[in-house]
Order: sequence, then C-alpha cells, then structure tokens
Amino acid sequence: MSNTLKVLFGLAPLAAAFPASVLEAVKFHPELQARADNILQERQAGAAAAQAIFEPVPIFNAAEQYVNVSAGSGHEYVAPGPNDLRGPCPGLNAFANHGFLPHSGYATIQQFIDTTEEVVGMGTDLAAFLAVLGAAVDGDGLSWSIGGTPGPGIGGPLSGLGNGLSGSHNKYESDASPTRPDLYEAGNDYKTVAKQFEQLISASPGGQVTLESLTAFRSQRFDTQIANNPYFFNGPFTGVAVQPAAYTFIYRFMANHSAEAPYGYLSYDTIKSWFGITGNQGSYVAHQGQEKIPDNWYKRALAYPYSIPYFASDLLNAALLHPKFLNVGGNLGKTNTFTGVDVTNLTGGVYNAGDLLKGNNAACFAYQFAAQAKPDVALSVFNLLNQALGSVLSVLGCPQLQHVDDAQLQMFPGYQKSTQAGITK
Ligand code: HEM
Ligand SMILES: *[C@@H]1O[C@H](CO)[C@@H](O)[C@H](O)[C@H]1NC(C)=O
Ligand SMILES: *[C@@H]1O[C@H](CO)[C@@H](O)[C@H](O)[C@H]1NC(C)=O
Ligand SMILES: *[C@@H]1O[C@H](CO)[C@@H](O)[C@H](O)[C@H]1NC(C)=O
Repeated sequence: MSNTLKVLFGLAPLAAAFPASVLEAVKFHPELQARADNILQERQAGAAAAQAIFEPVPIFNAAEQYVNVSAGSGHEYVAPGPNDLRGPCPGLNAFANHGFLPHSGYATIQQFIDTTEEVVGMGTDLAAFLAVLGAAVDGDGLSWSIGGTPGPGIGGPLSGLGNGLSGSHNKYESDASPTRPDLYEAGNDYKTVAKQFEQLISASPGGQVTLESLTAFRSQRFDTQIANNPYFFNGPFTGVAVQPAAYTFIYRFMANHSAEAPYGYLSYDTIKSWFGITGNQGSYVAHQGQEKIPDNWYKRALAYPYSIPYFASDLLNAALLHPKFLNVGGNLGKTNTFTGVDVTNLTGGVYNAGDLLKGNNAACFAYQFAAQAKPDVALSVFNLLNQALGSVLSVLGCPQLQHVDDAQLQMFPGYQKSTQAGITK
C-alpha cells in the first residue's frame, strides 16, 4: 500500500468504501508528466498537436470500440420517467437513459468511473477526479445525482444530501455552456436550448462538428453571455476548467470512430442523438433529458483514453487561440461590464495572468480552485477530494498554492448570488 493510499483510507469512516481504482488513478505517473511537458513544445500547432502526442499512431478496432445499444443488448434507450433525475450533462443523461448508469440518475463514484471509462474511453485519472468532485460538492461523499436533489426512494439513506449537478452552479456547473443557458439569465442551468444547438451547428459548417468549430463556438458563446447576461461569471474553476470540458468532451467523447476516421468524425446526426435533438437545421427541437447514444456508434480507441494531461493540452490550445477564456471575472450587474480579477492577488502571488498560458498552469490553477468550492458533505469527506486533487496536481507538476484570497470575487453579482443561495463558497 502506497502512502497516498494509507492517508486516504485513514481519513474518514466512509473511506473504507472508497474505490481502489480512484487511488490507482491518482498516483503519480512520471510518463504522463513527460507527455504533459511535451505539450509545451507542441502547443503552437493547435488541436492536432494534442492528438499527435496522445494518439501518436491511429488505431481502430471495430470489435473493441463498438458500443452495442441495440434491442436485446441490455443497453437500449429507455426514456426517463417522472422521478428520474436528468441534468446539465448530456453524456451522463445518455448513460442513465441506456442503463449504463442507474436509470434514476443517482450513482456511486465507482459507477461514474466505470461507465465513463467503458462507454466513452475517459481516462481513469479524469473520471476519478470528476466523480470524486461530484460526490464532494453535489452529493453525500460517495454518491451523487446527475440532476437535482434526489427525492426519497432514490439511493441510500444519505441520498437526500447534496443538490446534484443542476444545483451546483459556480461549484461545478458553469456559465457560457454550449447548449444550456446561464442560471441567472434563464432561471435554469440544465435545459437544452434548441437555438444554442442551432448556433453550434451554424458554427460547424460542412456537415461535421470539429474541435476547432467547437472552440470557435465557445468564443462566440463567451462574447454573447458578456453581452446578454448581467450576471455572467467566469469562475476560477468553473470558467477555466469546466467550461472547456463542456466543449472538448463533445468532440473527444461523442464522435464516431472508424478505420477512416480513427480520431473521430462527429456528424450532425451523431451529435443530435447525443443531445436529444430532432428535426433539421433551422427547425431543431430539443427533447429534455432524452439524450441517446447513437445506433452503430464506435467509441474512441481504448489505448488512447482522454486523460487529464490530454484534456489539459486541449484546454491550453483553446486558450492560446482565445486568451480571454482564462480571464477570471464577470459582468458587474450590467451587460458588457466584464471585469477581470488580479490573478496574482487571487493566488497569493503564485500565478500571474501571463503565467496561465504557460505549460499546465491554467489547468493547475483551475484544479486548485476546485477544492475551494463549499462541499455539501462533511469536511472529512471533502479531505478525500483534496488528497485526490493533490495527486492530480503532482501529475501535472503544479506549483503549490499556499493561499487563496477570493475577496475580489465578491464584486461579481453572479458569484455573490450563488453564495447567498448557499450554492458556492
Ligand atoms: C463523471 C463524469 C462527468 C461529470 C462529473 C460531468 C459533469 C458535467 C457538468 C457539471 C456539466 C455542466 C457544465 C456546464 O455548466 O457547462 C457538464 C456538461 C457537459 N458534459 Fe459532462 N460530466 C461527466 C461526463 C461527461 C461525459 C462522459 C460526456 C460525453 C459523453 C460529457 C459531456 C458533457 C457536455 C457536452 C456538456 C455540455 C452540455 C451543454 O451545455 O451543451 N460529460 N458535465
Ligand atoms: C448487439 O446485441 C444484440 C443483442 O444482444 C446482438 O444480437 C448483436 O449481435 C450485438 N451486436 C454485435 C455487433 O455484437
Ligand atoms: C460510425 O462509422 C462507421 C464506419 O464508417 C459507420 O458504419 C457507422 O454507421 C457510424 N456510426 C454513426 C453513429 O455514425
Ligand atoms: C488582494 O486584494 C484585496 C483587495 O482587493 C486585499 O484586501 C488583499 O489583501 C489582497 N491580497 C493579497 C494576497 O495581495
């Protein structure tokens, strides 16, 4: 047993049930560090640079990559019922609709890790981080809901704890999402907006959605929210790390793979299915909570999971194209009043704004702020997250953040409103 493992098990009574795969995933991996360092040299080349590092030799194996959701597979689509929880994440909604996750939409850390690896090829490190964070800030420390607060009858005795993904605005759920609206603009943060899907497709000409088209669309959404939402807030974790995931996951996890397109080809029909959209361009219709894994769909190559260093590389590439993505700050209660914070002040001098575009600094910065969110659970459980986080940070070679001074964030009403609602720190 490694020291990390002992520390983790020693922390809380609940830790006995903490999945071994999480502990395995968050161990320090020097080879990942070396690859993460390469990103620095390759970064000018854009999205393809990350592929060249993380998917050096194109691989396709039909039998291994096929995800069978046809009748009789045990994973055919079943629409959610009135008591099933569905929320802002189309991937997790689809997993629940196909019974890869419990149909209720309430699952354990281990179930989230297993399904994200198995169905779409997420790296164990990224899956573990996302799932543990969900349990800490949206759930009871072990389980959490992909929608709102679970009602009686769903999950175990602790299941009433935690507000789920939909209830985690500024902790997990972020502004300027691809197809979901901003909470303080629309009154909800999880319903698919057909018009936004329409805009995503318009930003992606030629019958396919690419990482480049998604990055361009993200830039457009970012500007639109500054111009339309007086409470737009680009948080240190939610803006810097969750927002990019909401875009890169679309291509990296939803694209169909084949011998001709081993990195993935994302057609309009495939993305429509994953987002529960029907109709044609100009008249798309959104069906809430009805996200579907397409028939005859092939996931990414098992040998090339989408890991934390891979994601950090995509995050950095997008920010090199659009440095505004790393501007932590928000509107001041009126549209077009976006004001950035002083990153040096926020981090007690560890980072400055220019540093964030270097190496893994942006990812490091964001992950460190993930631990600043107010947990829904006891602090002892939250400490598990910090342990898991510590290992993520060492994989990325992050500088130590000693002190966080978030007094500046109080000037943003979008941040304040979620603080008052008891949502965030
Ligand atoms: C345990 C794993 C996961 C967690 C904790 C998670 C969490 C979240 C959260 C909190 C959001 C809201 C972000 C926002 O406000 O923009 C979100 C959105 C999103 N997630 Fe996930 N997710 C997970 C796995 C996945 C997977 C496997 C996929 C793809 C198959 C996926 C695709 C997306 C997309 C595309 C969005 C943006 C939706 C939109 O606004 O259009 N996620 N996820
Ligand atoms: C998918 O599952 C169905 C039902 O079990 C089965 O008949 C079919 O052969 C499977 N397809 C493949 C390609 O394995
Ligand atoms: C995925 O690609 C294969 C090979 O081109 C194709 O047969 C299959 O229909 C595609 N699936 C989807 C969902 O587009
Ligand atoms: C950050 O700025 C606030 C006021 O905006 C100030 O009170 C605080 O002392 C500063 N912190 C650091 C570490 O410089």
